[in-house]
Amino acid sequence: MSGPFKAVKITDKVYWVGAIDWGIRDFHGYRISRGTTYNAYLVLADKITLIDTVKPPFRAEMMSRIASVINPKDIRYLISGHAEMDHSGSLPYIIETVKPEKIFASTAGVKALQEHFHFDHEITAVKDGEKISLGNRELMFLETRMLHWPESMFTYLVEDNLLFSQDGFGMHLASNERFDDELDMHILEEEAAKYYANILLPYSALVTKLLDRVKAMDLRPDLILPAHGPIWRKGISRIIELYGKWAAQKPSLKAVVVYDTMWHSTEMMAQAVAEGLTSGGVPTKLMPLSSSHRSNVVAELLDAGALLVGSPTLNGNLLPSVADVLTYLKGLKPQNLVGAAFGSYGWADAAVRQIEEILTSMKIPLVAEGIKVKYVPTNDDLSRCVTFGSQVATKLKEQHVD
Ligand code: FEO
Repeated sequence: MSGPFKAVKITDKVYWVGAIDWGIRDFHGYRISRGTTYNAYLVLADKITLIDTVKPPFRAEMMSRIASVINPKDIRYLISGHAEMDHSGSLPYIIETVKPEKIFASTAGVKALQEHFHFDHEITAVKDGEKISLGNRELMFLETRMLHWPESMFTYLVEDNLLFSQDGFGMHLASNERFDDELDMHILEEEAAKYYANILLPYSALVTKLLDRVKAMDLRPDLILPAHGPIWRKGISRIIELYGKWAAQKPSLKAVVVYDTMWHSTEMMAQAVAEGLTSGGVPTKLMPLSSSHRSNVVAELLDAGALLVGSPTLNGNLLPSVADVLTYLKGLKPQNLVGAAFGSYGWADAAVRQIEEILTSMKIPLVAEGIKVKYVPTNDDLSRCVTFGSQVATKLKEQHVD
């Protein structure tokens, strides 16, 4: 009995046996708009091999898909490309069920899996560049350390030119379609950018090195099969080009103004600041935190050149919502931005200074003196805010090289 879910044939030898999570919206703080998939792949070589598994609540779906093409007990090898639970979570179950001959992971992966599951199954460590035989097929492994965990690795099915890229080139997008060319490319680029910004951004220098390495190895995959979202078939060169662009984080003439407000004073300031930026020739995205999630803010910053942050002072502090987004951004380490701060206060102005300290700690140079307004801005105050925005626009244009 295979259950209701069927495997999807990708090539003669490879089937998609993952799961579709239509309902997920929170991925450890990253707000997902369109659900996701957990992709597992079955290679029907002489040694039948399963590449990765799915998040634990979806294991019955994965088992059903596997059972639609083979007896799961015929799986001989398991490959774990990444120890994060959305891919490794069903590993203990499938090991117990299938009793494979061998389980493979990177050297760091062996340790990470043991530290996750505290089991005593033997896992074989594979080195960077190492190949293993599946009989009539060969797999090669490429370590991709810190992309985005220490143990992450790519797997290459040599004869078929298939690159199993783990989280790399992935996106959170639930769909019944398995290939990029069956979906709207605009949505794919939007979700891939958001995924890059929220997951891979801090490791951009390593992404650049990896792209150079893949080029030097002359790997020309016919398909890129990530762990989330659709398989790249038509858009391979496009997604590689986009990764090169995102990893470079070359600033554009674009500003992002992020703010929250108590009684609309900081909001009025934000709108005036945006007016100054726009009239200074810089396209500007205004992002009120009442309706903008932190994961959308970082996605907007992926191609921005300036980050302006506004908060009123509340009890001697910046607003918690502003602290939230700054904490998130600090971890994701956006590069090549200039910054500035603004905000209203009642009797003790603290928020602007605190924002400036955080931006400085993020290595974002301040290009205008922070602007503060007591209680409610006058027209003169708002004119100062417009001028402040224009000053940032001028600085950004001076730094912009294109
Ligand atoms: Fe999709 Fe890093 O797990």
